[in-house]
Amino acid sequence: MGYNIAQKILLEHLVEGSLKPGEEIAIKIDQTLTQDATGTMAYLQLEAMGIDRVKTKRSVAYIDHNTLQTGFENADDHKFIATVAKKYGIYYSKAGNGICHQVNLERFAVPGDTLLGSDSHTPTAGGIGCLAIGAGGLDVAAAMAGYPYYLKMPYIVNVELKGKLKPWVTAKDVILELLRRLTVKGGVGKIFEYTGEGVKTLSVHERATIANMGAELGATTSIFPSDEVTYEFLKAQGRESDFRELKPDEDAKYDEKIVIDLSKLEPLVAMPHSPDNVHPISEVKGMKVDQVAIGSCTNSSFKDMMLVAKILRGRTVHPDVSLVISPGSRQVLTMMTESGILSDIISAGARILECTCGPCIGMGQAPGSGAVSVRTFNRNFKGRSGTADAQVILASPAVAAVTAINGVLSDPRESGEMPEVSEPKQYYINDNMIIPPAGEKEKVEVFYGPNIKPIPVASKVGDVIEGQVLIKVEDNITTDHIIPGTAKLLPLRSNIPALSEYCFSIIDKEFAKRAKSVDGGIIVGGENYGQGSSREHAALVPLYLGIKVVVAKSFARIHKDNLVNYGILPALFENGMDYEKIEEGDHLLLEDVKEGIKRGKGVLKNVTKRLEIPISFDLTKRQINLLLEGGLLNYIKKNLGE
Ligand code: F3S
Repeated sequence: MGYNIAQKILLEHLVEGSLKPGEEIAIKIDQTLTQDATGTMAYLQLEAMGIDRVKTKRSVAYIDHNTLQTGFENADDHKFIATVAKKYGIYYSKAGNGICHQVNLERFAVPGDTLLGSDSHTPTAGGIGCLAIGAGGLDVAAAMAGYPYYLKMPYIVNVELKGKLKPWVTAKDVILELLRRLTVKGGVGKIFEYTGEGVKTLSVHERATIANMGAELGATTSIFPSDEVTYEFLKAQGRESDFRELKPDEDAKYDEKIVIDLSKLEPLVAMPHSPDNVHPISEVKGMKVDQVAIGSCTNSSFKDMMLVAKILRGRTVHPDVSLVISPGSRQVLTMMTESGILSDIISAGARILECTCGPCIGMGQAPGSGAVSVRTFNRNFKGRSGTADAQVILASPAVAAVTAINGVLSDPRESGEMPEVSEPKQYYINDNMIIPPAGEKEKVEVFYGPNIKPIPVASKVGDVIEGQVLIKVEDNITTDHIIPGTAKLLPLRSNIPALSEYCFSIIDKEFAKRAKSVDGGIIVGGENYGQGSSREHAALVPLYLGIKVVVAKSFARIHKDNLVNYGILPALFENGMDYEKIEEGDHLLLEDVKEGIKRGKGVLKNVTKRLEIPISFDLTKRQINLLLEGGLLNYIKKNLGE
């Protein structure tokens, strides 16, 4: 039987299990990446595992999220990560070197490798043929310590790309089209593998844009073939020795198939407040816009910047619009400088930000009250921009640049011919902002600033769990709702007690106070609870507040893993309608928990309403063990001790 690309890579890395969809498998991880907002916790956990050096082929710690330094916290945290990286054998990409996924593509991602990253957009590397998965920091720490990564074998969806994109239609529109068709839940438990003649028409960065936003579909990852386009890209990065060809066998099988005719697509935008609220630009154009932000790990390659610059050349940004641009990496920024396009952009009246996540993670450039912001990013959840009532619209760089000039949401097809842009034959290569680790014997002292507080300790799941429903939330609650990722809170990522004050604060300002007053309690959620980022703080903070169980209609993959890793029980309503039978403040009781999680079923008693609600537990054997042992860290420590 022939294999597809995802199966080939999985088979090469398989440690446990078979490739039967839905069954738990364990895979060996070649490379890891962390960013600074999740990195501090990941490295504290790595230290707690008691190893000498990382066991991966390569691990890289990036500083790209918390780069505003309005207090000592971020700078201290970066120094912690720098020293810990040096000590444990990890490369350290300094602040200003670029966004993790962009730099990873340029300098580290290898076709056919497995990559585990503590950032949900790690699948960006699928653009180069790397099997890249986003996970919580604790899972990434375990991979660095040499443990395999466990996941349910995903279903593999073949996305066949036919034809060629028309002028003004870009890779962003391909993934927005998939989001329009499948929604933010459409990719859960799936890998999207792209094939077809249309693939050859896309550069590695364009493929990466599509793979990047596969995360918004909820997909485990997305992957493209590694072909002559990949070879040319690697060669231009001085890394042709990293090339290997990857394509599906002629008789490869897939679990599902989707066909997209690239030539039929038109420019699309995702309207507030969800990446799947997708509309053709022709339907929504004309809306007045206050801010345009170009950048992020989705759309900040040199080719993206080149297109933007050519659109802006000789023109002026609309007087009512603030245009901010963050190049994806120092490589991109340097090439913008050397090619002269930076001056086109500056002359047009754009503001140049540093090569970091910046506005994407709410680090500056929060829009004004009720403002409309058009962004080339991947998420537009309410409040993520830093302004609760801002309207964020996701668009391609082409739509964004034309909109910045016109001052209204614009269809780029109405602005004449699309400028020609192509990938460079040679990229600027300078790795002097990537600090290599210390030699094996060199002594390194790890720096701990006062902002770094101990990690909350998970406990073994008890046989009886009871408590008050502290909050009942609706469908598609994101990790941003659970722990906001604003500039004010990001410096507290290594300080869980301080961060806990803001848990669910976007929805309910009293939540943390209430949780503390009753020493824990229960969270009730709707569908796709915990979608969005890999932010394990969305599990760590509830753990700190004493939450023992979250009952929901369904969970987003990474968040569910994070809950289990921290010893919090994720329970599912057997019948989604039963969600209506619980209200905030109700007293719930769950008995025989240990037996229940093994059986996969239980009965949740609503003591207040005198009702019994059937629930289920969709847990693998390993996840059950983790819950019984008090989470992943305790499990690893116990195994290391044996
Ligand atoms: Fe950074 Fe935004 Fe990507 S926070 S890693 S640019 S999703």
